[in-house]
Amino acid sequence: MQSTTKKKAESYPVPTQLATETDLSPQEVKAITEAVNPLIADAFALYVKTKNFHWHLYGSHFRDYHLLFDEHAEAIFESIDVMAERVRRVGGTTIRSISHIGQLQTIEDDNSTVVAAGEMVRILMEDNGHIAKMIREAIETCDKNRDSATSNQLQNILDETERRKWFLYEVMQGSKNTE
Ligand SMILES: [Fe+2]
Repeated sequence: MQSTTKKKAESYPVPTQLATETDLSPQEVKAITEAVNPLIADAFALYVKTKNFHWHLYGSHFRDYHLLFDEHAEAIFESIDVMAERVRRVGGTTIRSISHIGQLQTIEDDNSTVVAAGEMVRILMEDNGHIAKMIREAIETCDKNRDSATSNQLQNILDETERRKWFLYEVMQGSKNTE
């Protein structure tokens, strides 16, 4: 038990049992896997962060933000399985554990004891913006490596990410004008 939990998660080589047959070359599969797995790690990290803010919110905007963050967390969560199964369909391996997420995530966790509501909105807007940029780059990688099916799925996830960013941005404009 100890040794498996301490072991670093490795994506390569893919064991034969998991190397789903594909007409994509091993290099193409590697490029796709390396572009998509960090997106999954970031989705997990952002899911927890959004829920963290949903749970630890206070102040006059409580109800609105509490509901908005929950709606966002749900959409982020749904994207995880879609991306992970795309990686498996082309014969790559994906996220194994919380520590694997930590290895690959590119957004920062927030362990602050208290975060003001307006600051939560700003942080989530920036994280969604960062993730949108990463997804756009991953779409390019998938296109270059002949994986239009993953590209298509990522386009929907990018659209959802930009929707969240838009909402958060406009919420920020509102709070600037009323404060
Ligand atoms: Fe809740």
